Amino acid sequence: MFSIGTINLEILQKNAYNLRWATVPEGVIPLTAADPDYPCAPEITESIIKYAKDRYFSYGPTEGQPFFKEAMACYFNNKRNIPASAAFILPVDSAAFGIDVVCRAQLEKGDEAIVFDPVDFLFKYAIEKNGAIAKSCPISTDPSDYFDITKLQSLVSPRTKMICLCNPLNPIGKVFKRSELQAIGEFAIEHDLTILSDEIWSEITFKPFEFVSIASLDEKIRERTILVTGFSKSHGLAGLRIGAIAAFDPNHYKSIVEASFHESTIHGSNVLSQVAATAALNQSEYWLTAFKEHLHSIRDLTINGLNAINGFSCHFPQGCYLAFVNIKETGLDSATLYKQLYEVGKVAVVPGLVKWFGKGAEGYIRISFATSHEIMAEALERINNSINQIH
Ligand SMILES: Cc1ncc(COP(=O)(O)O)c(C=O)c1O
Repeated sequence: MFSIGTINLEILQKNAYNLRWATVPEGVIPLTAADPDYPCAPEITESIIKYAKDRYFSYGPTEGQPFFKEAMACYFNNKRNIPASAAFILPVDSAAFGIDVVCRAQLEKGDEAIVFDPVDFLFKYAIEKNGAIAKSCPISTDPSDYFDITKLQSLVSPRTKMICLCNPLNPIGKVFKRSELQAIGEFAIEHDLTILSDEIWSEITFKPFEFVSIASLDEKIRERTILVTGFSKSHGLAGLRIGAIAAFDPNHYKSIVEASFHESTIHGSNVLSQVAATAALNQSEYWLTAFKEHLHSIRDLTINGLNAINGFSCHFPQGCYLAFVNIKETGLDSATLYKQLYEVGKVAVVPGLVKWFGKGAEGYIRISFATSHEIMAEALERINNSINQIH
């Protein structure tokens, strides 16, 4: 299921946008947006076909299809040890939109929210777009470094309302330990903060690291947590724009529904995408297991290959199919190195710009390795050759 033979480059060149195959000139390998090169589980496609054959695409319920909400609740209860209730799960058109909805529901103008740095840009963007202020908390780019909770102390003010957790953490690939999460949870209780926990990467972890949700720790932490998840990373459904928000406090849920505009204008999230995501949850576990096995082996090839390149150093991610590469020894900044790799090596990567990941990403590039061994080996060779040309 996960070999060069299952990757259809012709289709990807037509369909894969967001800095990927459809947006780069022919011959360039895009290791950019975290979106697998592999087609999704066939059961997901079958579920869409089955629904479509009835030829009814009527409005769905504003708060989501019961079958999807139930499937999500079962998943949280059985796989994540989170006592979630279907009644407080809202399907939304993507995790990105989910983050925005939570910020809109929880933050007022002038409020402050804490975000890690480096981390995916979506948090800061949503906080600021909703009139609030993002306070950056630096975090080590070595995923095995213990997160120092005292770093949060100096960032708290009477206006701090929320802390944004990204677990596993894009782009570092850190999977937070239970004790780190407990400390973050207790910190949130002490300062009366809401925890926005983005767990879209929770399925992508590498043994021996295991994902723990902050919402599974205890009731006091859970009731102040709002969980966001999605299907773009784990199941290759980015274009279906489907995700979910789970709340554990009825007031949180009410404010989230309001902020989603589902009742006022949008009238719920895309029905076909909820059908597909339900099949992802209920029928494609075997596919996910095989995908993770493949990712484990390609992670090792990728990180070892990157560490062999002059001036590059890179930790093994504990989760996420991302390599976050320290390129400082090359003497180039990330934007210049990006250009060199793109123009000379014909490989597209994500430069560690402030706008993508925060200040802590300067001197780094990010590489997505959800592809085949052959494509990654070719990309590594091209990267190596183009770096050798600058030394
Ligand atoms: C941490 C994190 N959250 C959210 C998203 C966006 O997910 P979606 O495609 O569901 O909007 C991404 C995508 O890269 C991500 O890395």
